[in-house]
Amino acid sequence: MSEFIEKMPKCELHVHLEGTLEPEHIFELAQKNGVELEYDSPQAVIDAYDFNDLPSFLAIYYAGMNVLQTEQDFYDLTYRYFERASADNVRYVEPFFDPQGHTTRGVTFETIIDGIVRAQKDAAEKLGVESNLIMCFLRDMSAESAMEHLEMAKPHLDKIIGVGLDSDEKDNPPLKFAEVFAKAREWGLKLTMHCDVDQDNSVSNIRDVVTKIEVDRIDHGVNSLEDDALCDEIVRRGLGLTVCPVSNTFCASSLTAEEIRTMLQKGMRATVNSDDPAYFRAYMTDNFKALSEQGGLTDDELVQLSRNAFTVSWLDDARKQSYIEALDAYVEAARAA
Ligand code: HPA
Ligand code: ZN
Repeated sequence: MSEFIEKMPKCELHVHLEGTLEPEHIFELAQKNGVELEYDSPQAVIDAYDFNDLPSFLAIYYAGMNVLQTEQDFYDLTYRYFERASADNVRYVEPFFDPQGHTTRGVTFETIIDGIVRAQKDAAEKLGVESNLIMCFLRDMSAESAMEHLEMAKPHLDKIIGVGLDSDEKDNPPLKFAEVFAKAREWGLKLTMHCDVDQDNSVSNIRDVVTKIEVDRIDHGVNSLEDDALCDEIVRRGLGLTVCPVSNTFCASSLTAEEIRTMLQKGMRATVNSDDPAYFRAYMTDNFKALSEQGGLTDDELVQLSRNAFTVSWLDDARKQSYIEALDAYVEAARAA
């Protein structure tokens, strides 16, 4: 079973590149860039990872990313993630990045995107891992700042497939960014938004994300299960939900395996993702294994979750189809063996 999960072709649609920054790399970059750290070893950094909800996680996440300064730093961050993903047989990724986490520290938009895009090209060529980038806005910053960053991205629209919304949801509902997302859509970008688990007004926020913002996908979105009509609408629209099981054990105190199973039974297109794997100490295979070993999900359910991810990705239909065929061929060969 374990080997079957490891080698299964995978697609990751919810991973924050800044959330893939490993403690060893934090250390290396702090030394190189002359950033002072409070910790004296990578293990001490891990030992300080003390989070039990979204705000406590975000405080540590933003502290970590301060060491990222040069184009090469963003390249190395991104390329190392792709290497790690490749080891889990992740074939296609739509990674997030948080430009405002860096421009607010004086790093230019070009420094960030040039490093990331160069790594994407190398990963496609050398590792065979294909990707398309999603730019996220920090929802605890202003709508004006989000709009400024959308404008900054204008010369780079060929490098970005969509926009997302992350950071602290409390008092930062989706409609705060309605105008920004409307403009992004006008510019041909796909839309997704975080609807983190067990937030204030989770259900009505998800309803707004679906029916008012009219997103193309939902990040997390587990609380939609509390409203049958909302679930029906998500199914009717064929929307994908990017669930992050191990992340949920930290930020929402459950693996949400039962919720994922319920989504599958309702025909909702749930997917499995790592979110911030360096912080939650779990990459894609680890997330699938947790669902299998602790959550009791079956082989068929895991395959369906992987198939869903390729299906709700923003690739064109021919590319989707070729990945899904590869997944089906893998499953068939594994069953025959
Ligand atoms: N939710 C909100 N903000 C985030 C997350 C998340 O899962 N990961 C990184 N920033
Ligand atoms: Zn996330």
